[in-house]
Amino acid sequence: MNTIKFTVLAASMVFLSSCVYFQQEENAYVPEPWNPLDEQTQIDDVILATQQLLVGKLISHVDGENLDEAVHFCAKNAQTLTDSMSQVLGYNIRRISPQNRNDKNALNADDALAFEQFENSLASGALEKFFVPENQNAYYTPILLGMPLCLQCHGKAEDRNPQTYALIQQYYPNDKAINYDLGALRGMWKVTVGE
Ligand code: HEC
Repeated sequence: MNTIKFTVLAASMVFLSSCVYFQQEENAYVPEPWNPLDEQTQIDDVILATQQLLVGKLISHVDGENLDEAVHFCAKNAQTLTDSMSQVLGYNIRRISPQNRNDKNALNADDALAFEQFENSLASGALEKFFVPENQNAYYTPILLGMPLCLQCHGKAEDRNPQTYALIQQYYPNDKAINYDLGALRGMWKVTVGE
């Protein structure tokens, strides 16, 4: 009887320790670091969808010459809209710029490096389509000021709508997002995971 008990006990100990062993193995598993280039097509799709959503909503709120509704709309929804697109496939997606309108859209040191790459490539006449830093922790694409409409809220004084800009300044007293020409590098899309 005792021998049986002992055998059962010994067997369970071996079994339990093997569990512990496997568990340690599992904990030791280090996931591969995220490489945005492995998912480039999906990321580009999410960026495109977000851009189309924002521009579509922007245009739908322009009433003839009057852009007031569009300003109210952007000021109230631009952040939430980009955030809502972030839920798609689990990416964090943001619009950032060194001359940011919203304080939340400023650059950090890594972002500044990416912006410089785009600036240089645009100046040399062959704008890079994307940028991934060496540590692969983000994916950037350039945002150009592509439509004359953009100038009404981001252009030089003579291209801007004064009434519209007065309203923008009420929402954003620290606004830096003006004096651009058509075709200028306005900012970047930044996509990350897990932050
Ligand atoms: C009706 C005015 C209006 C028009 C037109 C407009 N924008 Fe903006 N833009 C804004 C506002 C307001 C914000 C701040 C949104 C926020 O709070 O994130 C903004 C923010 C941005 C940002 C984020 C960086 C920052 O400065 O905070 C980018 C990039 C941008 N706009 C690009 C464009 C482009 C490209 C166009 C043309 C397709 C355009 N905008 C047209 C009002 C406008």
